Amino acid sequence: MTPGAGRRRRALLLALLVPALAVPVVAFAAWQGGGGGGTGPSFSREVAPVLADKCAGCHQAGGIAPFSLTDADEIAERADLIGAAVQRGVMPPWPPGGRSPAYAGEAERTLTDRERAVIVAWAAGGGRVDGPALEPRPEPAVRVRPGETLLRLRMPAPYRPSVPAGGYDDYRCFLVDPKLDRDSFVTSVRIEPGQRRVVHHVILYRVDPRQVTEAEGLDAADPGQGWECFGDSGLSNEPSDDALDDADWVAAWAPGWGGGRLPEGTGVPLEAGSRLVLQVHYNLLNGRAPDRSQALVTVVPASTGLEPLRTMLLPAPVELPCADGESGPLCDRNAALRELARKYGPEAAFTPAGLLFLCGEPQGDGVTACERRVREASTIRVAAGHMHLLGSSITIELNPGTSRERVLLDIPRWDFHWQNGYALKKPVEARAGDVIRVTCRHDAGKRPDRAAPRYVLWGEGTTDEMCLGLLQVTRGL
Ligand code: HEC
Repeated sequence: MTPGAGRRRRALLLALLVPALAVPVVAFAAWQGGGGGGTGPSFSREVAPVLADKCAGCHQAGGIAPFSLTDADEIAERADLIGAAVQRGVMPPWPPGGRSPAYAGEAERTLTDRERAVIVAWAAGGGRVDGPALEPRPEPAVRVRPGETLLRLRMPAPYRPSVPAGGYDDYRCFLVDPKLDRDSFVTSVRIEPGQRRVVHHVILYRVDPRQVTEAEGLDAADPGQGWECFGDSGLSNEPSDDALDDADWVAAWAPGWGGGRLPEGTGVPLEAGSRLVLQVHYNLLNGRAPDRSQALVTVVPASTGLEPLRTMLLPAPVELPCADGESGPLCDRNAALRELARKYGPEAAFTPAGLLFLCGEPQGDGVTACERRVREASTIRVAAGHMHLLGSSITIELNPGTSRERVLLDIPRWDFHWQNGYALKKPVEARAGDVIRVTCRHDAGKRPDRAAPRYVLWGEGTTDEMCLGLLQVTRGL
């Protein structure tokens, strides 16, 4: 690691967004099928099964989505909205765009061209509902394999999410103790939300035994269960050569996102005595019930000989000055740095300089990038991106501009609300010396109206920004 870039806030996390991806809309043309007369596809035969399969996991009574798609009347009322959301590609939420490679579980989370066409044609034909809606398939139980131990790590007590007036989102970290008395590997992670309608997503960090005191301190310093944490777990990192190559990320979970298995044959190492942090994003659009979620984590002993899965961080500088015509005390970069130091400690104010040193100046117009060389031959298995609220796109590429170019992740419309990691269906090999580039675009125009203009820098708060690629890799090809 380079001098100024040392001590860096723990890895952040992840990513993803809602939007609308480049899902070409083939609408009517692709729907040629077995219909209900002149009014488009049959609801019962063609539409209801798709809604149950691809939508109702979130859109059910008590779910995270704002209305249920398991009730025929509710569906009939919203046929236009459903057609529009599907046509625009915003639902179901699947952030990666067309340049991205194929990811595990993608088929369960996205619509086929035909399914999209059926729903759009049905809505356009009047959205007639000719039978009952279907219930979603229940989520399959966590499968525990021979040799694995299932840990149920429950939040220590219920937490009542709270937000400032006008806000809907609460990011909270909870420390749980897997009580490991021997070194282990995590092989899968599933979250069982206590209150499905408020738990939007969860990111799991590992806390190694040397960090436990700091984590307990954060917990004790914040009244109530857990502590407030927006960009990451809030734990600091010891300066080390490894800080960017072995970050403390374990896995991410979002509703309906599947079984939570880490890539076959791999596991995230967890030393005896480690803790885990559940970073929970609560979204209170649907109410604010108290939650007590639990993580279901399978582990195997370290002696099992899995390939250790490491998380590489690829940060890029963020330097977003106030726009022309804007003014305010925090439009001054030095004043913004002093504020970072005041809020998050002196080291937070060094990160922007460290990133400029590592990566050079951003390109301007909100675009920033950074390249890192791969130190040793590795196999890239999972990709994720992380920005905050001003993020608008993020791309991670291997060897850009060469014949060995591979896009690892491309999220053309970033939405902080949909964060996740994407396991590559075909792992990608990176040789020593290969270049990995992360490129982000931020749009200062996404700043909430009530927020004062400021020079935005890398930082962990809601009004600070990040540009961070994350790759989970194993050693060797
Ligand atoms: C992973 C959870 C999830 C899945 C799967 C999902 N939705 Fe949603 N949906 C949401 C959430 C949460 C919202 C509230 C807005 C937001 O957070 O983006 C929403 C909002 C909507 C809206 C309102 C959009 C607007 O413009 O106001 C519609 C319509 C919708 N969903 C339809 C669907 C349909 C149809 C499907 C399946 C093809 C689907 N959703 C799948 C979580 C989901």
